[in-house]
Amino acid sequence: MDSATNLILNPKDNITSWHEVFGNSNPIHVEIGMGKGDFLIENAKRYPNINFIGIEKFDSVIVRAIEKVPKDLNNLKLIRMDAKEIDEVFANEIDCIYLNFSDPWPKKRHHDRRLTSHIFLRKYDHIFKSDAVIYQKTDNRDLFEYSVVSLSTYGYVIEDISLDLHNSDRGDIIMTEYEKKFVAQGDNIYYLVAKKGIQSHKKMLK
Ligand SMILES: C[S@@+](CC[C@H](N)C(=O)[O-])C[C@H]1O[C@@H](n2cnc3c(N)ncnc32)[C@H](O)[C@@H]1O
Repeated sequence: MDSATNLILNPKDNITSWHEVFGNSNPIHVEIGMGKGDFLIENAKRYPNINFIGIEKFDSVIVRAIEKVPKDLNNLKLIRMDAKEIDEVFANEIDCIYLNFSDPWPKKRHHDRRLTSHIFLRKYDHIFKSDAVIYQKTDNRDLFEYSVVSLSTYGYVIEDISLDLHNSDRGDIIMTEYEKKFVAQGDNIYYLVAKKGIQSHKKMLK
């Protein structure tokens, strides 16, 4: 199989049929803004019974990920798309979302573009299979604090949190490209896991 087959060209065609794309009923984990793909490639190698999908907005970046994906890594698919369209690509099939070092959009007038704004959380409601689960890592304290508030006021419970992930006892951490750079510089990595149960999830959709 050529590595380019990991790239899904018309993702909207597969809305509600992603398990068929993978040919199994394993959980599906999505990383939004995957960059060059290091995090997902390592996850897909370590966890063959989980399906991974990476979303990336820019051709120039996703090309680098496509080049790196091993030819036989069948549990990883890549999509070039803007996360704004995520609810047109997935419906009720996704088990969790990773937001790793997402763009911080520091200006207040751009906060709605943050991937943890209520605008995006509303879109995510449509894609989760049952409970909504979001993992976030960032070096940006302002984005992190914003996310804690945004997730909490939207009905998520923060189940795990660290203000210094790499000096915590969370064991073996699979790092992203940006994370490797920040850790080498000695920067703190902020980390959270947020969960919203199916009941509150359905209420939000009303
Ligand atoms: C700062 S980089 C982090 C890359 C990678 N997750 C890491 O930790 O090394 C953010 C990435 O998210 C992508 N991105 C930003 N906004 C996006 C969106 N709305 N939809 C899809 N990708 C997006 C950018 O193009 C960029 O590659």
